Amino acid sequence: MVGCAPIITREMNSMRFRISAACTLWLVAWTAAGRAQVTAQPPAAGPATAPAPVAAPQGRGRGNAPQGPGGGAGRGFPAQQRQLADQRTLERGKTLYEINCRSCHGPDLRGGEAGGPNLLRSQLALTDLHGELIVPVVKQGRQTPGMPAMPALALAEDDIVAIAEHIHAVQATSRGQGAPPAGPPVVLNIVIGDPKAGQTYFNGKCASCHSLQSMQGIATRIPDPMTLQNTWVAGGAGRGGAGGSRATVAVTLPNGQRIEGPLVRIDDFIVVLTTPDGTPRSFARSGNVPKVEVKDPRDAHRALLPTYTDKDMYDVTAFLVTLK
Ligand code: HEC
Ligand code: HEC
Repeated sequence: MVGCAPIITREMNSMRFRISAACTLWLVAWTAAGRAQVTAQPPAAGPATAPAPVAAPQGRGRGNAPQGPGGGAGRGFPAQQRQLADQRTLERGKTLYEINCRSCHGPDLRGGEAGGPNLLRSQLALTDLHGELIVPVVKQGRQTPGMPAMPALALAEDDIVAIAEHIHAVQATSRGQGAPPAGPPVVLNIVIGDPKAGQTYFNGKCASCHSLQSMQGIATRIPDPMTLQNTWVAGGAGRGGAGGSRATVAVTLPNGQRIEGPLVRIDDFIVVLTTPDGTPRSFARSGNVPKVEVKDPRDAHRALLPTYTDKDMYDVTAFLVTLK
């Protein structure tokens, strides 16, 4: 990885480098860490006063808007967490973009009729902080064999930097990779079963363990049908979930001593339980030593799971929904 460093440092300004995926990752980290190095370029246009505030352009607030270092986890790549320019610069950049770039790169940067590539996905445009990578491309033009050429444009450096800032403001509105499409969340109606059939099923398969009354309580407590379905199918909150585990464990040591309590965690190497005074106690495991017996009330539900058909699930959910 460190092998990438000299290449990138030397050729940062020429813009002709093509970096490997591994280098790209490294570059992302490096760019964030070494901002000062990268920004040792002519400063951005606009009032040379205090650092520009992080502007809040259209549509931000969802997705991975830049937060700056220390922002929430998973809020975008470090290289994309840059300060946006002030509003005036952004407006100027937008106008200049419309005039000089839009025909080729599109109104929303995703490429236009005249053949420019998508700048939302351009590694160069994403890595650029404040024009240091974009300015040379615009000034010198670009001709990659097999691609339409980008002409060299006679624009003032100041103007190109403003355009770059506009590009970043648009990038900042894009959502994280893997994010669901923008727009209202999809609402799934899962109450499509037959409540009567659900009641019959309940009486036959569930009533041996549950009273109708207790189900009424649960249906009232959980108004969202999807959550209600998940709850009855799983038999309550999962291990470590909101309701915590209701599983208990008994550990029998080689000397015969037996310790019992609510299960905190278990894997092949350790078992942790809560002792009566509330403190956790852990035991190393090695094969069958010590002897460990887990009792989980939801085992009954795990055993039922493979017996449900889709129809059973819809019917029972439809029935339970009517109980509240
Ligand atoms: C006549 C069409 C055209 C115009 C106008 C145009 N571009 Fe381009 N641009 C291209 C083409 C084509 C490429 C790809 C060239 C290549 O890679 O060889 C490109 C490449 C780029 C790249 C590099 C993308 C990458 O990932 O390598 C950037 C950045 C860019 N343009 C920014 C701009 C900006 C900013 C403007 C306006 C100031 C602009 N372009 C105007 C056609 C255009
Ligand atoms: C063999 C007994 C048994 C059967 C049969 C059974 N359950 Fe359960 N169910 C349990 C136990 C035990 C729990 C409690 C688990 C716990 O305490 O964490 C539970 C938990 C639940 C819960 C969650 C309760 C809560 O307070 O969160 C729901 C809802 C539920 N069952 C619905 C059903 C439905 C519907 C059926 C029939 C399809 C069914 N159960 C069949 C034993 C059973």
